[in-house]
Amino acid sequence: MTDAQPRFARLLVTGGAGFIGSCFVRDVLARKDGTLVTVIDKLTYAGNRANLAPVEADPEQAARLRFVEGDISDPTVVGPLVRDVEAVINFAAESHVDRSILDPEAFLRTDVLGVHVLLEACRSEQERNARGERAAAPRFLQVSTDEVYGSVETGESHENDRLEPRSPYSSAKAGGELLARSYFVTYGLDVVITRGSNTYGPYHHPEKLIPLFVTNAIDDKQLPLYGDGLQRRDWLYVSDHAGAIGHVLEQGVSGETYNVAGNNERTNRDVVTTLLHQLDKPWTLVRRVEDRPGHDRRYAMDSSKLASLGWTNKMPFETGLAATVDWYLQNQDWWRSIKAGEWQDYYERQYGARLAGSTDAG
Ligand code: NAD
Ligand code: DAU
Repeated sequence: MTDAQPRFARLLVTGGAGFIGSCFVRDVLARKDGTLVTVIDKLTYAGNRANLAPVEADPEQAARLRFVEGDISDPTVVGPLVRDVEAVINFAAESHVDRSILDPEAFLRTDVLGVHVLLEACRSEQERNARGERAAAPRFLQVSTDEVYGSVETGESHENDRLEPRSPYSSAKAGGELLARSYFVTYGLDVVITRGSNTYGPYHHPEKLIPLFVTNAIDDKQLPLYGDGLQRRDWLYVSDHAGAIGHVLEQGVSGETYNVAGNNERTNRDVVTTLLHQLDKPWTLVRRVEDRPGHDRRYAMDSSKLASLGWTNKMPFETGLAATVDWYLQNQDWWRSIKAGEWQDYYERQYGARLAGSTDAG
């Protein structure tokens, strides 16, 4: 145990076998401050028990982790888990824009209805608290995204800006967070919301831009760049995103929303140029393919509200990208086993015709 005791000693982390959720779990347990973590994860194509291997390898940390394979949309599973904890951190989601365009339904189930089930379970615990049956109602942290602001041509999004989501994914995420906010307003539930920017780092599923391009480039495979590749994203290292969420969990004001920016705005072309340089691979691997429908051109957020809560990111982009490229070089079993499964069908559906009709990316 360390001297600084966290505010919440028992956490329910949903989606804790995914990319950012597993980083949060690894980092919280590595603090060795006695925090107990229950993970509920449906282990969809994106969930992977191997993401928690570093925890399982340390008996002290493993003893403080309980893993439940289950769906956040199932109240019979969720209810008893929420009963046992002081805070719920909801990472669980369908998270890939391209898959939401191919098949939106799962996004509504998990990213909207799943949030509702979690909120109802928290509300039941709040009622138990009112009856004197538990010490305090649980805090609920909804992990949301900068995509709820829609495409931001100029300037930066602030927390009170209008939400203008444009894809099935971002619309479902907006629905989930609005529902969470409504439980604060209507029922007085202790709710905080974070909106994070494009996150990258180790254990990132290879369907997303950076890990897809790194792993394809390692194998000298084509890199499908959507449209002109001049779309802009703001990149945030995964442990900075997870750390910021932990900070809001501890310090955030109930009912408030906090932008979590990376402050590393780059065009997709810039990102690809940097990672090819780090891998010593040629630009000729890059192919210009048919664009993503409704593709948001740019995201950018102002995160001074989070800064005023005392949070600062640690990882510079080029260092983080180099560490990420190195991780994918060193952990090829991890991503090769993902790319061997359901992946093949998805890849053909998403990229088969695109790559067949691709042109020189200039
Ligand atoms: P991910 O796809 O890597 O992980 C999602 C996890 O949720 C997986 O482990 C999956 O098995 C689990 N899951 C899915 N449906 C579930 C269900 N019904 N019940 C229980 N578990 C379920 O996603 P990620 O990139 O780690 O994103 C985590 C959260 O952060 C998401 O809410 C996402 O919207 C948000 N976010 C992501 C980014 C990013 O750039 N990756 C940026 C901002 C916000
Ligand atoms: O901004 C936060 C969001 O970032 C999160 O909420 C999402 O969960 C996360 O997936 C991510 O969404 P993006 O759509 O921005 O990420 P993705 O990695 O899919 O794409 C990044 C950019 O790269 C985007 O402009 C599309 C482009 N791209 C992506 C892929 C997969 C390509 O050009 N080619 C590709 O094959």
